[in-house]
Amino acid sequence: MKTTRPKTSFRPALSRELAKLRAHVAESEEMHRAIRTGEVDTMVVAGKQGPHVFTLKGSEHAYRVLIESMNEGALTLTADELILYANQSFARMVKGPLEQVTGSSFRRFLSAEDRATLRPLLKRADNSGAKIQVLLNAGDGSQMPVQISIRPLPKNGFESAPVGLVVTDMTAARRSEELLRALTHRVVQAQETERGRVALELHDHITQLLCAILVRSQTLADHLLARDGPAKKEAMKLREMLGETAEEVERISRNLRPGVLEQLGLVAVLNDTNREFAKRTGASVKLACAPLPNRLPGDIELTFFRILQEALNNVEKHARARHVTVCLTQSGNFLQLVISDDGVGFNPNHRANGRKGKGGLGLLGMRERATYVGGEFRIKSIRGAGTEIEVRIPLPPKGQRLPAPAGD
Ligand SMILES: Nc1ncnc2c1ncn2[C@@H]1O[C@H](COP(=O)(O)OP(=O)(O)O)[C@@H](O)[C@H]1O
Ligand SMILES: [Mg+2]
Repeated sequence: MKTTRPKTSFRPALSRELAKLRAHVAESEEMHRAIRTGEVDTMVVAGKQGPHVFTLKGSEHAYRVLIESMNEGALTLTADELILYANQSFARMVKGPLEQVTGSSFRRFLSAEDRATLRPLLKRADNSGAKIQVLLNAGDGSQMPVQISIRPLPKNGFESAPVGLVVTDMTAARRSEELLRALTHRVVQAQETERGRVALELHDHITQLLCAILVRSQTLADHLLARDGPAKKEAMKLREMLGETAEEVERISRNLRPGVLEQLGLVAVLNDTNREFAKRTGASVKLACAPLPNRLPGDIELTFFRILQEALNNVEKHARARHVTVCLTQSGNFLQLVISDDGVGFNPNHRANGRKGKGGLGLLGMRERATYVGGEFRIKSIRGAGTEIEVRIPLPPKGQRLPAPAGD
């Protein structure tokens, strides 16, 4: 007897197999696509001894896409500063074709001075991520201010480890910094002009008026006879109070615009300011001054004086110090003023981050004044261990020194 398998039972099994195969192919295609596009760089496969992790060849693909698409320049350098790899952004920064950038020396994009600063940082590169700001010389002779972040890379068969650099264009940041500086300078200048105007008003008008009232009150006291007892006493008291008021107004006016600075120079005004501060606050102030050139340029004298004034204001307002030392010295072509106190101290870095909207202008103004005359400004302060303010200002060469301004 001849038996035939019914057609109907064979067909569904075959089409089930086919569907399964199609699903496998689709899955494999998807996996292949994901590997190709860098979506997958590692696979975990179940094995007899547990899961196996496979890292795919070319797994840096995703990172390569990232590095090529970023705005910053990215480079790898040999220990001898040869460029092993550079991204397109870096080629754009130095305005040269990538083929000519790769394989050349990174040093050719830097000035001799910047090369010397960078070299030790590359040699000592560690994971702390050193940063440096330099000027990048582009192929067309233009320059770009950049920040370079440096990281060591794995040796990967090299004798000495290569380094990775990320180069960030700082043009916009520099411009904002310059704008901010120009603005702060204008604020300081406006403050100076306004102080001068108020000082003049006080000196010329209020002090004159007070002196006239003082003389009148003296006359009144003289006219009252001894038997007028209480009234005479009152008149004497009034005269005394007026005298004190006139002195106070004179002090405020002097602080606003120190005539002594213009007439007698920096050392005299530092002495005056310190003496007055010690008398008023009860703190002991020690002043040490090295012999200085006869007269300094007016803007330098004013800068030192205003910084001392603001520093002493801060000591009075915040430090609760018992001893203050003010030291003015000359070393080489620099004049240095150091003001230290033994007060409560503070964290200058914390302050620099800004206490929303509450920060004063004092420290900012001091820094601006020092920077404007080409100087440097530093604060060292530790909570509980006092504060030290240091200002270093270069003296202009002798021939170029302007005379201090004459008093008005
Ligand atoms: N000599 C100092 N001792 C202790 N803290 C200080 C001293 N100088 C400055 N500071 C701190 O720094 C802050 C900022 O000072 P400043 O910019 O002059 O602003 P302001 O005096 O108006 O608060 C002060 O509020 C204070 O907390
Ligand atoms: Mg202040």
